[in-house]
Amino acid sequence: MERRDVIKATATLAAAAASVAAAVPAAAQAGNAAAGGNALVEITPPDPDAFTPGRFAGRTVIVTGSARGMGRAAAIRLAREGANVVGVDWIRDLGEATDAEIRAAGGNSVFVHGDVGEAATADAAVAAAVSSFGKLDGAINNAGVMDGVFSGDPVDYEKQKPLVFAPIHEATEEYWSKVFRTNALGAFLMMRAQLRQMVAQLKGGAIVNVGSIAGLTGLSGNPAYVASKHAVNGLTRNAAIDYAPYGIRVNSVNMAATDTPMIARAGALVAASRKTATGPAMGSIKTQSILAWTDPGHRPATVAEQVSMMLFLLSPEAANFTGGIFPTDGGWTSY
Ligand SMILES: NC(=O)c1ccc[n+]([C@@H]2O[C@H](COP(=O)([O-])OP(=O)(O)OC[C@H]3O[C@@H](n4cnc5c(N)ncnc54)[C@H](O)[C@@H]3O)[C@@H](O)[C@H]2O)c1
Repeated sequence: MERRDVIKATATLAAAAASVAAAVPAAAQAGNAAAGGNALVEITPPDPDAFTPGRFAGRTVIVTGSARGMGRAAAIRLAREGANVVGVDWIRDLGEATDAEIRAAGGNSVFVHGDVGEAATADAAVAAAVSSFGKLDGAINNAGVMDGVFSGDPVDYEKQKPLVFAPIHEATEEYWSKVFRTNALGAFLMMRAQLRQMVAQLKGGAIVNVGSIAGLTGLSGNPAYVASKHAVNGLTRNAAIDYAPYGIRVNSVNMAATDTPMIARAGALVAASRKTATGPAMGSIKTQSILAWTDPGHRPATVAEQVSMMLFLLSPEAANFTGGIFPTDGGWTSY
């Protein structure tokens, strides 16, 4: 691959410098250094260990996708703030590791291993909340995929190509249905189980769904991700109406590139797919948020930056917010 193509590919997904550099280290770093930023004043990311003591004391919260990335960080911070956490993930060992880390630090946590695209997983998560902690107060429906490959599998573009993002005329039904199974069906099944419990309790509640900039706008070369994340936001709006009478608030957060294993994987797949792409491809238009463009390192959002918004929306401080489709995207969707 030409060096300029690698730079273009790695600039994709809002120049996710730190994580994409792990996949294409030298080229990514050279690309970012060459491009530079235009900040006169740099914005410092918040302390990743910041938390608000006691904010969720006595509350029970389900977090899907708790094995790694944003879900892991959300689960750990919730527990530090006093919540009982029910983690859900289909990567068993990493999910169990998050659970063990919380308990080793003195927090309350249980882990449910399973696929969010199966109703049994959603029902088991709610049952675990009730049997372990007596009730369910909130949820962060965060599990998501950008392609149809199992999240725990290493990148192998040639082998995984039929399941990887592609423009519609090249996309397979399997890619479409696997992405929809996790992102759209998974969100529906989780919300259904959570809302059934919250309605029965009649004590209110709060749900935060994790969308994406792909739920607010198009993203070149990734039709199933875009359509499924629009579905997440549609479900969010609909549930906000139906469950307001029960005191249940439903909002979504919609980030651009955030420094997690998913974005590292996407960067590697983009770099590989560009070798053979002939038409529109992932990242072939618009590559950076406002803040990534300005930052000297073109940094993506940190996990902590996203988790702070998720927890705010879940908390009583956000009492008047429902049906909100919040862009947490460094300005990506504002231009
Ligand atoms: N990282 C980004 O740049 C970015 C940008 C926009 C939106 N998002 C969204 O944020 C959410 C979290 O992503 P992340 O970046 O932390 O990714 P990640 O891959 O690091 O973590 C996602 C977690 O969800 C789990 N998961 C995925 N599908 C599952 C399934 N069917 N059943 C059970 N568990 C499943 C994975 O195993 C993983 O632990 C996703 O919904 C993603 O679409 C991420």
